[in-house]
Amino acid sequence: MAETRLAGLRAKMVEAEDAYYQNDDPILTDGEYDALRSEVVAIEAAFPDLVTDDSPTQTVGAAPSGGFTKVTHARPMLSLSNAFEDDDVVEFFARVRRFLNLSQDAPVDLTCEPKIDGLSAAITYEKGQFTLGATRGDGAVGENITANLSVIGDVPQQLTGEDVPDILEVRGEVYMATDDFAAMNAALEAEGKKVFANPRNAAAGSLRQLDPSVTASRPLRFFAYALGQFSGNVGDSHWALLDNLKRWGFITNPLNRLCSSPEDVLSFYHDIETHRADLAYDIDGVVYKVNRFDYQGRMGQVSRSPRWAIAHKFPAQRAVTLLDEITLQVGRTGALTPVANLKPVTVGGVVVSRATLHNEDELDRKDIRAGDTVVIQRAGDVIPQVVEVLLERRPADSTKFEFPDACPVCGSPTSRPEGEVVRRCTGDLVCSAQAVERLKHFISRNALDVDGFGAKNVEQFYGFGWLQTPADIFILGDREDEIAQLEGWGPASAANLSAAIEARRTVPLDRLIFGLGIRQIGLDTARVLARVYETADNLFAQFDRLAAYDEAANADMLAIDGIGPSVVSEARRFFANPDNRAAVDALLAQVTVEAVQAPTLDANSVLAGKTVVFTGSLTQMSRAEAKARAEALGAKVAGSVSKKTDLVVIGLDAGSKAKKAAELDLDTMDEDQWVAFLNT
Ligand code: IVH
Repeated sequence: MAETRLAGLRAKMVEAEDAYYQNDDPILTDGEYDALRSEVVAIEAAFPDLVTDDSPTQTVGAAPSGGFTKVTHARPMLSLSNAFEDDDVVEFFARVRRFLNLSQDAPVDLTCEPKIDGLSAAITYEKGQFTLGATRGDGAVGENITANLSVIGDVPQQLTGEDVPDILEVRGEVYMATDDFAAMNAALEAEGKKVFANPRNAAAGSLRQLDPSVTASRPLRFFAYALGQFSGNVGDSHWALLDNLKRWGFITNPLNRLCSSPEDVLSFYHDIETHRADLAYDIDGVVYKVNRFDYQGRMGQVSRSPRWAIAHKFPAQRAVTLLDEITLQVGRTGALTPVANLKPVTVGGVVVSRATLHNEDELDRKDIRAGDTVVIQRAGDVIPQVVEVLLERRPADSTKFEFPDACPVCGSPTSRPEGEVVRRCTGDLVCSAQAVERLKHFISRNALDVDGFGAKNVEQFYGFGWLQTPADIFILGDREDEIAQLEGWGPASAANLSAAIEARRTVPLDRLIFGLGIRQIGLDTARVLARVYETADNLFAQFDRLAAYDEAANADMLAIDGIGPSVVSEARRFFANPDNRAAVDALLAQVTVEAVQAPTLDANSVLAGKTVVFTGSLTQMSRAEAKARAEALGAKVAGSVSKKTDLVVIGLDAGSKAKKAAELDLDTMDEDQWVAFLNT
């Protein structure tokens, strides 16, 4: 009995490990894997005779079973915004100059670097000695992969040079060369093991190995291209930094170049594009960075990308295949998204079997039909798209796809308001597809983020009738025994789930708002609302007033910088629906909501949490820079003056706002005082 059960569990573990490590495409959540492993360990402990050398408990080594410990990045690991056309790059130059208040012919140097298609890593050195290595993770928190990074030859253990800063966190790309990738796959295949789809997956799968000796056996390389935290002097420009990194022992890309005009930059890009296939590694574009660090500092970031850098992507890769069927997917907000189900085809190294057809309008316009031969493309991580129908290959009997009047999932009427391109199911929480998608959104990484609880669990528990609205997640603990009985679960994993849910009972206000999944309220908007209204009571009272068409509430919200009419009208729509309001109430009864700290770079900044208004024209910096600088110091920047305003910065030719500031006796600064303040 124990023997057969053990064999089954071990086979499942091997399959899950393969999916995780070889394909970087997990089939189990960390929690599920943990549970599986604990059960195997328990059986082996009870029946030591059954322990064999090839049991997965023996081969994985002593690493913690759940994977890696977490590392909070001292400075967030940002991502890059994208440019696709040459014109976007010309506009980038112009934007940089506008932001910095430079004339449009002032010199601005950009460094140009091939964009390596691998995965980024952060490596910390203390007094020149490698001490910590981490993955990017979600940009704020990554995984501790110190042991694995330390076995990569290109990653120095000890830096060389008299001037190495005491603390130096170097960031760069771990990648696999295409030749090495092919040889490794051939070897894996010869051993009857699963091969990787492309060098990027191979690099990711090889780096995230619990056993560093496996990583060591894989041909990984590293290019350094950025900094995290550091002390001391690293140079005053990116180009100088790259030079220093080389001297200290890193490999930087020898193709990197310093350019000073859009023409230079674009000729570099097209040159690289032409020789792309001859490079030893895959790249998916070119990265441009404003060279001077003082400029970078002034430009700051927007959302999670720096304003001073951009990735110029290569055009998407394309393939031709057959479209078997068009189906409809019902999303969180009821949007009906038509999906093309394709005969699987490889595009740029990845097998594609589905592509989005966007929305009713787009599908209607393009008249894409089942049975069509289509050209599809994928660009980077973007969902594959159908770009063209080969009409000469269209079967004679094909018919146009008609959007249904009833939701394919719940049967509620569908509607498409005037002027909108999307048709939606009107069922709201009655529609199981919408309810499930909302629950998935609620537990997703930027919302509640429950460890070991994923989309598959939501679907299953919803199917059992255990979950309907987010509040139900917090009473799942009552079903711990039932959960423990389910396939793939056990007492330990069920208890872990209960604990993970309990750990999320205190939730920051921004995550809570974002988690509700209101249209137009993404993460950034949720943060703005959380910072302005501070407590759940305040915010939800405001939403209720909005839902009751209170004019003052409407005006109050619209006065917030970053909140526009579409946010306000969607918030009103959401809270005017009694089902939604009841779901929020039920949720608030389960959780404790935490105020959100202003994201200040300097906790002691006198502007932290303050509301600042700029009025009149500034001459020493653009309005965009002024706003960004104030926000970087933790301030909220508002568009109008009220008694809640803490500071008004008054430029030239200021009008009614300056007057109002005087009437209300608010603190004010002129531009010189503002600039002096920034420089203190
Ligand atoms: S700089 C704030 N430089 O592209 C700057 N990134 O979309 C952050 N990448 O996560 C990155 N080559 O994995 C930079 N020369 C390069 C790069 C590069 C590849 C990747 C990196 C990053 C992603 C950004």
